[in-house]
Amino acid sequence: MNEIGFADICDWETALVMGDRLDEIDFWKSITGKYGNKVLELGAGTGCFTIPLLLDGNLITAFDISAESLNHLQTKTETLEYGGELKIVHADMRDFYLADQFNICLASYSTFQYLLNRNEQGHCLEAIYKHLLPEGILCFDLDNDITCLPENMPLTKLYSEYNKEIQANITLFTSWNTDRKAGIRNWYDRYEVKYSAGRYIEFTNNISLKAVNLEEMTNLLEEAGFQIIETYGDYDFSEYSESTHRLIIIAQKTGA
Ligand SMILES: C[S@@+](CC[C@H](N)C(=O)[O-])C[C@H]1O[C@@H](n2cnc3c(N)ncnc32)[C@H](O)[C@@H]1O
Repeated sequence: MNEIGFADICDWETALVMGDRLDEIDFWKSITGKYGNKVLELGAGTGCFTIPLLLDGNLITAFDISAESLNHLQTKTETLEYGGELKIVHADMRDFYLADQFNICLASYSTFQYLLNRNEQGHCLEAIYKHLLPEGILCFDLDNDITCLPENMPLTKLYSEYNKEIQANITLFTSWNTDRKAGIRNWYDRYEVKYSAGRYIEFTNNISLKAVNLEEMTNLLEEAGFQIIETYGDYDFSEYSESTHRLIIIAQKTGA
């Protein structure tokens, strides 16, 4: 049996921990419905939002740095009947060139926070700018709680559940530490996989995310040629404040 990694259980774990994410799906459908259907999706992963947006008739270029996640997206869409169009691109959002321009660039669920310093953030925004049509829209969904307390968490069991597709019981242990000066939280996730047939493997998945605030984002976006036109604190378009869990920013490309 082949080894597995996070991409192989991502959809299953997302459904387990986050449910159907219908509020997010409805949010992204509203955004594309309002601002245009030619969409560049950064950090598309296995396609939690790519697929609903495709079914909604959008023309999507979905990219991600994880080839494994994109393979899952490819497999899931091979037999799917959808009204839109899909291009899947293996690329790094810190530096990309796609020879195309879009109405909207979206980065769902904290994707922009994988960029850990101003240099990476600036390069990404510069590349996005070049790929948007005049007055094109950039929409980021950011986590406003990245550095919430406690600062450090010891390895703790998060779940232990049976995965029917893989035919294994999967246990996730998670821990984190926070670099408060850099505003970065580092998660260390350890997965223990006990197959029904008796085999046992472990794998890890480590993620670091950078906290951002509205003032920093405003400056970064203005430097890159964008103007913020809306902010929200949640997927129901409610008002953003420092205490909301999400910071959703809609910005527009200025200039030519
Ligand atoms: C939080 S996940 C979001 C996945 C999916 N869009 C969702 O909302 O469930 C962030 C995604 O960004 C991708 N990613 C991280 N760094 C990246 C980079 N430098 N370039 C492109 N994609 C990146 C990860 O592989 C991951 O799929």
